[in-house]
Amino acid sequence: MNPAYRLLPDVPMLALRDCPEAGKAFAKAQELGPEGTIAQVRAANLRGRGGAGFPTATKWENIRAEACPIKYLVCNAAEGEPGTFKDRSLIRANPYVLLEGVAIAAFAIGAKAAYIGMKETFKREYARLESALQEMTDGGLLGEIPIHLAVGADEYLLGEEKGLLEAIEGNFPFPRILPPYLHGLFAPQGMFVTEGGENPTSVNNAETLSHAARILLHGPEGFREIGSAAHPGTGIFTLVGDVERPGVYELPTGTSFRTLLEQHGGGMKDGRAFKMMLSGVSSGALTADHLDVAMDLPSMKAAGSGFGSGGYIVYDETADAVAIANLYSRFLANESCGQCPSCKTGTAYVTKHLERLVTGKATAHDLDEIDHALNRVASGNRCYLPVAERTLIASLLADFTSDFYAALQPGYALARQLELPKLLDFDPETRHFTFDPKYPLKRPDGSYNPLEVGPYHFAAT
Ligand SMILES: Cc1cc2nc3c(=O)[nH]c(=O)nc-3n(C[C@H](O)[C@H](O)[C@H](O)COP(=O)(O)O)c2cc1C
Ligand code: SF4
Repeated sequence: MNPAYRLLPDVPMLALRDCPEAGKAFAKAQELGPEGTIAQVRAANLRGRGGAGFPTATKWENIRAEACPIKYLVCNAAEGEPGTFKDRSLIRANPYVLLEGVAIAAFAIGAKAAYIGMKETFKREYARLESALQEMTDGGLLGEIPIHLAVGADEYLLGEEKGLLEAIEGNFPFPRILPPYLHGLFAPQGMFVTEGGENPTSVNNAETLSHAARILLHGPEGFREIGSAAHPGTGIFTLVGDVERPGVYELPTGTSFRTLLEQHGGGMKDGRAFKMMLSGVSSGALTADHLDVAMDLPSMKAAGSGFGSGGYIVYDETADAVAIANLYSRFLANESCGQCPSCKTGTAYVTKHLERLVTGKATAHDLDEIDHALNRVASGNRCYLPVAERTLIASLLADFTSDFYAALQPGYALARQLELPKLLDFDPETRHFTFDPKYPLKRPDGSYNPLEVGPYHFAAT
């Protein structure tokens, strides 16, 4: 793989002097002009790394073509997908390439301003970006379009693009109805779109924008030579769960999942058998017969899973699919904001029946109820969350049916408790991921159970 296109340096860049190429990609974009810049990104076939894999050039081109004179660029650095730590790894190791990608995208679409949105809990990343932004601005490396840092609530929906725009405007991240290209940042009329959208806004993932900077600097041809033709470049993969060497690995797309798991991740923990891999919470499970799948958009989809945001959670044979379904269904029910009743009640209803299964209280009726609820949950949704519930839980039911029937047997008890990989930190030295210890106390209304004393519990004084 051509190392020029790598995003993660071997040693973190702690100051601008560690990044000799800083500013060169933006200078190239200025030389080419907005259309020429977009043409380079199109020629590279850059696909979004935030989850859906949308072609970046198409997004930029459409926003640029909008008649509305006010446009915005938003960099999505909210990183809330369970099992994902790539954007924070990137910001910690090389904030300069990200900032340059933001400046390039803002220039290409003709933005009035750019915002980088992240969680209020990302203190370390905020501080790192703040100082790098100051250094690059002082050096005149980012052009004239202002770049602002913005924070929002520590909620999964902060990463949903319509929720992120709400948060940048100072609100709770409740996803609005219309997409950002129709109802952009600070749009005066909200949902009453006339023509061409209101303040059309391009929302791009932090890793996506960083790749754009590399493409401008080194050209689209070299990028296309890396990885899969249909989805080229590198991907920053987070590997977490029952593996020997959890971590964050940058590899060419199209690398087989087996290579990530066995060569980089050191194989399954304690030599136990692989049971499944979850690509975040929005796709189906990857089963043992698909270990050789190429990690790119079309191949992962064909294998019944998804490329997602490259955060892969591995479970071994000791994990019960019923417990996995319950864990993630509960997460989605908690994180559902309740603006769409079928989503909030549907995810909670599925979780309620899954809880009956994991506690050995269920009958076959509970399985029927889950099945029916999965068909209703996603009707009238503003965002993809309830579709994720249906996709993931239905895939677990289909691929691990015997686990669900085993939970109906008298005397059933869960062999192993599972923890939600809501990742707070990663130490590359020890390869240790810190999971949010407070998360198990979260309730569907967003409050935290005060009866259980967790590490974050403070008694009223
Ligand atoms: C519930 C939900 C959570 C999401 N969380 C994130 C996130 O944390 N980071 C992210 O970049 N995209 C997230 N997305 C996808 C964004 O809405 C959006 O598609 C993405 O930022 C676009 O960037 P890209 O085109 O570069 O992939 C989420 C989507 C949904 C439905
Ligand atoms: S689909 Fe669910 S999470 Fe998304 S906006 Fe509606 S209620 Fe909220």
